[in-house]
This record gives sequence, structure tokens and C-alpha cells, in this order.
Amino acid sequence: MDAIEIKKELGQKAAQLIQSGMIVGLGTGSTAECFIHSLIHRVKTEKLSIQAVASSEHSAELARAGGVPVMDLNEAPHVDITVDGADEIDPQKRLIKGAGGALLREKILASASRSMVVLADESKLVSHLGKTKLPIEILSYGAAATRRHIEALGYKGSWRLGLFSEIRPTFRLPQQTENLFVTDNGHLIFDLTFSHPLQNPEQLHSELIQIPGVLETGFFFHLAKTILIGHSNGQIKQLS
Ligand code: 5RP
Repeated sequence: MDAIEIKKELGQKAAQLIQSGMIVGLGTGSTAECFIHSLIHRVKTEKLSIQAVASSEHSAELARAGGVPVMDLNEAPHVDITVDGADEIDPQKRLIKGAGGALLREKILASASRSMVVLADESKLVSHLGKTKLPIEILSYGAAATRRHIEALGYKGSWRLGLFSEIRPTFRLPQQTENLFVTDNGHLIFDLTFSHPLQNPEQLHSELIQIPGVLETGFFFHLAKTILIGHSNGQIKQLS
């Protein structure tokens, strides 16, 4: 089974968890998209009556286009379940998220949800977090100074490039290109990379989050209740 087929299977499996009357949190990324497509299918074919709350403009548009009503998180009295993807998952169910640039809204939505279901293929399983990168969402105002604070702690990284949002930062970084990635919130993403696997991600998170201008890190601790891993032989296993 190829990567796309695995994501589709995962999306279908997660869509089966949704019941009429639920308020459903929609994650962001290619796996979350497969879930949204399966959810749309169930809404159309089984007349499932749900409302959704989205972690990105893209996921909201996709759901609305498929006939799923999407409300603002501020209007949702609660969120029953959020289904999202992940970039790295360790044996303690700690995650790194944010390769799609939606980490801040994803974390707010997951924290507001009664349960978070994470869908990923086996390539996302790691023994220690920090294998790929750690995205950090940063306020555009003073972002160059915020970066210096991060680097003074001994960490290395780079600004995420590629414009995906209509929102432009109100403050331009010195000597920076025009194509900085801008989140749905109008912020920038700084991607940290590591030369060694992370031994203490909680400590790193608390160091970073104390820096003024750092809005959120891509670490998700104690949020993922259920993690479904898709394997190339077609099996889906729940991480225990
Ligand atoms: C977006 C995310 C995504 O959920 C994560 O990057 C996984 O994406 P994909 O399912 O495309 O591999 O955190 O901010």
C-alpha cells in the first residue's frame, strides 16, 4: 500500500469514530485532509449531522465545500473530538506538529477538545523527538530579535519560506526575501533543527516559550489520546 492509500485508510477509520450531533475538530495536512474527505462522504451518504471547527482556513474551506458546516471555535460550546496528523510521534505519545504551519491553531483546538485522535503512517514513529525539525510560531514584530534570543540559547534554525496566506506580517525582517511563510494568524515560522535526538523536549519547550515573541512550539504533550498508525501492509494499529 502506498503512502496516499495509507492516509485514505486512516481517514476512513477515523471518520467511523464520528457520530451525529458531534462537534468535530478538523486538523491540517494531507492526512487530516483524507479524514475530512471521509467525513464529507459520511455526511453526504449517511446524512450524518455534525458541525466542525477547523485548525486552518484551508481545512475550513475544504469542509465547507463538501457541505460540512464549520463554526468559529469561539462559538463552539465544546469540541467532542479533533482528528489531526503529526510529524513525529515518540513512545510516550509526545508529538511534533507544524510542518503544515498550523501548529498554534492546532494546539488551541486540540487543547479545547475532549479527545484528540492522531493519524500517521509508521514513518512518523521516532524513538526520540527532534529527528526532522521543530516548528516555532513567532510574532512578526521583532522577529529578528526573537530569533537572536533563540540562537543565544544555542539552537539553530531557519525561517520557513513559501507564502501560503494572504495575511502579510506588519513588520519586515531585515535582509529577508519576499517569500516568508505566513501563518493563517499572520505570524512567521522558525524551524529549529537538531544535531542530536532530544533527551528532554519539555525543558526545550519551556526555554523557548519564555522568549517574548515565541507564540507556540510544535511540541504536543499529553494531548494525543488515541494514535492510529497506518502500516504499508494495510493494517492500522492503535499505539498503546
Ligand atoms: C500541520 C501539521 C500536520 O498535521 C502535520 O504536518 C502532518 O501532516 P501530513 O499529514 O501531511 O504528513 O501539523 O501543521
